Amino acid sequence: MANKDQQFVTSAVKAVDFPKSNLPRIAFFGRSNVGKSSLINTLMNRKNLARTSSTPGKTQTVNFYLATDNSYQLVDYPGYGYAKLGKKKRAEINQMIRTTVSEIDNLRGIVQLVDGRIPTQPVDLEFEKFLNQVGVPQMIAVTKTDKVKKSEIGKLENRIEKDFGENVEMVEYLLTSTVSKRGITDLKTWISELTNF
Ligand code: GTP
Ligand code: MG
Repeated sequence: MANKDQQFVTSAVKAVDFPKSNLPRIAFFGRSNVGKSSLINTLMNRKNLARTSSTPGKTQTVNFYLATDNSYQLVDYPGYGYAKLGKKKRAEINQMIRTTVSEIDNLRGIVQLVDGRIPTQPVDLEFEKFLNQVGVPQMIAVTKTDKVKKSEIGKLENRIEKDFGENVEMVEYLLTSTVSKRGITDLKTWISELTNF
């Protein structure tokens, strides 16, 4: 198995510092604490490659990680919409996301994470619209579905289709969990189809 140092590429806060690469990339966005870093660890079959925390606001920089077979990179972004950061800092992060996404070399896909345990948040819909305009395939990963009762899953699916379907022509989404591993194989397949050419 590759070690952590070999899989960690770099951290950056400005697009000029983003590493150049010919490797295809998939980037991850979502509210603070939604589970971006956890999902990246799971997709990379690692426990602690990307740092995670139960306190929102853990990821502060844009972090690039390399798949063990060296065929693609996953890009972990700071979370948007974290109330406790204060208005100014929150606006800075939102702005940073908006201005840097199009600067990622070789971006092949976007995964937007939304928390399956709570109602759709307006900021998620704003970012869905913005991320859709980037012009690469977009997947909504509904996270923490291990915390959703089986009897509520159908309702959750309907809500995601309805809410996120208002902004875009076709919503692609997967129910995921890094605990039960639900949806992980499907997400890996989606990523490899976008990065294997
Ligand atoms: P920021 O870096 O702050 O933007 O957060 P993040 O989106 O990277 O979230 P992170 O991966 O750090 O996870 C936040 C918390 O959610 C941690 O306590 C995780 O253990 C927990 N978590 C992540 N995924 C899941 C999941 O599928 N199920 C459950 N139950 N908890 C999860
Ligand atoms: Mg994080």
